Amino acid sequence: MENAIKNYEDVDSWKTIMFLYNAALKEVGTKLEILNDEFQHVHQYNPIEHIKTRVKTPESIVKKIRRYGYETSIENMVKYINDIAGVRLICSFTSDIYRLAEMIGNQSDLKVLSIKDYIKNPKASGYKSYHMLVAVPIFLSDSVVETKVEIQIRTIAMDFWASLEHKIYYKFEGNAPDYISKDLRECAQMVSTLDEKMLTLNEAIKKCLEEQEELEANEAKK
Ligand code: GTP
Ligand code: MG
Repeated sequence: MENAIKNYEDVDSWKTIMFLYNAALKEVGTKLEILNDEFQHVHQYNPIEHIKTRVKTPESIVKKIRRYGYETSIENMVKYINDIAGVRLICSFTSDIYRLAEMIGNQSDLKVLSIKDYIKNPKASGYKSYHMLVAVPIFLSDSVVETKVEIQIRTIAMDFWASLEHKIYYKFEGNAPDYISKDLRECAQMVSTLDEKMLTLNEAIKKCLEEQEELEANEAKK
């Protein structure tokens, strides 16, 4: 237990680490806001409905390290826990998710470490979201530290499902009665259907508006 968090020095390094993760959240949060603003400026449309950020609590960091089977040390926490700093992007449509993922991937100072597409490959629970693990450089007075941030991108409907499922999962400590898990999977299917319908509907509305504008422009020319 060489690196166990047990003395003042460790408390100090714990604080430094948490400072870094908070800084990383600020960096990524600002980046995403700028991308959203630029998109609004160019296309008069916001791909991000809203942004939620959070730093994992010490209790849940320790719980996760233990669940992974490692000693609770700062070194292990930095190495194995990828979601200490987390950003959740909530969008209206699935198309926004991939648009955002591409924009994030194109940021030259962000390193994409891994991608998990639980929309194309949903979890057995029915969970759908697009996960990106990125590293953002934090510029300190005498060094640059690459810090990991987990970005979860999902639609409003997927978010609604995930928050309810999360509550149920915790309530039953992972052992929900079969009928509840089954109902949740059915709801996940409804979420997918709703997302597909909303996307198609939105495309149809856009097309209608474009045709109307074209018509008006032609009328004006006459
Ligand atoms: P952990 O599940 O966090 O231990 O890490 P992992 O390596 O399995 O990563 P994964 O990408 O699968 O999950 C990371 C995060 O996604 C979780 O901490 C949750 O916030 C979310 N998540 C993953 N699966 C589910 C799920 O079935 N239901 C809900 N509600 N959230 C999930
Ligand atoms: Mg998981």
